[in-house]
Amino acid sequence: MKILDIELNENNGAHLITRKYQTELLDLFPDEQLRGCEMGVAYGGGLANMRRIWGDRTETIWGFDTYEGHPVEEMLTRCEASQRAGGKASMAAVCMEHWYNLKDRYGDRYTDEHIQAELDELGYDTVVLVKGLVTDATDVSFIEDLHYAFIDMDWPQAQRDGYELLKNKIKPGGYLALHDMCKRGHIPGCWEIYQDILAEGVFELVEERPDPQIVSVLRRL
Ligand SMILES: C[S@@+](CC[C@H](N)C(=O)[O-])C[C@H]1O[C@@H](n2cnc3c(N)ncnc32)[C@H](O)[C@@H]1O
Repeated sequence: MKILDIELNENNGAHLITRKYQTELLDLFPDEQLRGCEMGVAYGGGLANMRRIWGDRTETIWGFDTYEGHPVEEMLTRCEASQRAGGKASMAAVCMEHWYNLKDRYGDRYTDEHIQAELDELGYDTVVLVKGLVTDATDVSFIEDLHYAFIDMDWPQAQRDGYELLKNKIKPGGYLALHDMCKRGHIPGCWEIYQDILAEGVFELVEERPDPQIVSVLRRL
């Protein structure tokens, strides 16, 4: 089975952009073992690709997700922007349905058991799955610092929480990639948070692809 392959992200072209920056990190930090993180893992393709690119230069790659499917009930109560944008009909609430409905192809392959088994088969023992809802109270104390993080949880509130949790973990010169945030109105509430992040001045914008990938790459100052 090759479910962790890049093919998984065929509609998430973000990784086609971000892998360039993941590759650059090998030269930017030539004497260091690299640490990365993805928040919002889905089927694991992003984690597997990061590990593949870094090879034996990987120290640890953490992957945060519920691993129980898109957390609609839990996040709707937390995410005011998505409540205002239609609640259960909002883009943030329904955007994973297409994938979950492709049962023959994807089924329940978003579970940590399934992804862990795939990682084991590949021998990718430097990838660590962290199961649970990401909120502003999520424990990330076991991460000392990061060279790279990708935040891709769809919910504006989850994107903000993930950013706050990780922004001071990323090393100067390291990269933060954000999905779904640079195209105004795509997921209501995300663009506004993105503007706050840019205005904060902790990161500088390196590349922005509003269409079709809807991904931004920022460098930690
Ligand atoms: C768009 S998918 C991630 C796609 C993946 N990054 C990729 O490139 O293939 C969004 C994922 O975020 C997860 N998610 C959404 N909100 C979350 C939260 N607050 N805590 C943990 N996981 C969350 C969902 O379970 C889902 O698997």
